[in-house]
Amino acid sequence: MTVKVAVLGLGSVGKGVLEMIARKDLDIIVTGVADSKSGLIDPSGLDIDAVLTAKKTGRCGDTSISANEVVSRADYDVLVEVTPTDAGSGEPAHSYMKMAIERGKHIVTSNKGPISLHLKELKDLANEKGVLVRYEATVGGAIPIMHTLGNGLAGNKFVALYGVLNGTCNYILTRMAAEGLTYDQALAEARELGYAEADPTYDVKGIDAAIKLVILANTIWNNGASLDRVDITGIDRLTNDALRLAEEKDCTIRLIAEAFPERGVLRVSPRIIRKDHPLVFEGTLNAITLETDMAGEITLIGKGAGSIETASAIIGDILFISSHVRCN
Ligand code: HSE
Repeated sequence: MTVKVAVLGLGSVGKGVLEMIARKDLDIIVTGVADSKSGLIDPSGLDIDAVLTAKKTGRCGDTSISANEVVSRADYDVLVEVTPTDAGSGEPAHSYMKMAIERGKHIVTSNKGPISLHLKELKDLANEKGVLVRYEATVGGAIPIMHTLGNGLAGNKFVALYGVLNGTCNYILTRMAAEGLTYDQALAEARELGYAEADPTYDVKGIDAAIKLVILANTIWNNGASLDRVDITGIDRLTNDALRLAEEKDCTIRLIAEAFPERGVLRVSPRIIRKDHPLVFEGTLNAITLETDMAGEITLIGKGAGSIETASAIIGDILFISSHVRCN
């Protein structure tokens, strides 16, 4: 069955999603798009290549059509909300999502702001309206962590989780240790490659990893976790000397996020760990270890950032919706 989507946000994630929908035979049509300056609506399906070409010159469509209008007027089953994250308010994404849910539309998002702040509210409203809110792409890029939590490990008790949740920091630490780049050089590379957030202080100060930890904690334990309850230390003060000292002991440094709910621990901090530890790997890879009562310890590793990798998570969620619920 063909599923109709409206895509809000044409940054690296939005463009990756459109490219994959155009290139693969997925039975998904795009009936609305909007970037920050313009929008397009076509109930029979937009020409995606034309949208992507127009976007290269600055905007995707008609300046008289706003994102608000796409959400409230376009004919779609699923709102794909991939606008930039505002971790402080979750806006305007939060309002777009509520508006779409009120219209009986499903939500698929990579937007960490509204999901870390308003997950319960959005899920409650979605339940009331009989639609789904899926947010696989908010944590771990291409890693199917939410599917694993909700399906494969359903029925398990989760005792703890820890992992590497920020690709930019992992990339910087890898490049500093392997090539002797300074922190600033490695950060500039990560930005150039499109891994870092629009404001990279979110990455290097550990805030992005902490937001992802909050999303995971609320998904697993529904325990009202919030960013202000996470104990956060970033990698922005880390020197090449610190990495060299770690190297001398056959260790390295990684930014580790961890949650031990029974002890009330939610923490993100740089850790000196042995090089043969399962959480030591290179580049933008992320890893999440779950300690469970039935399945024991499970570690998922995969690409944690990148346009097409994040599109993989978004498309997985769209297809989950189209195969589990009836789209009109
Ligand atoms: N800036 C994020 C990271 C992107 O580096 O992990 C994916 O959330």
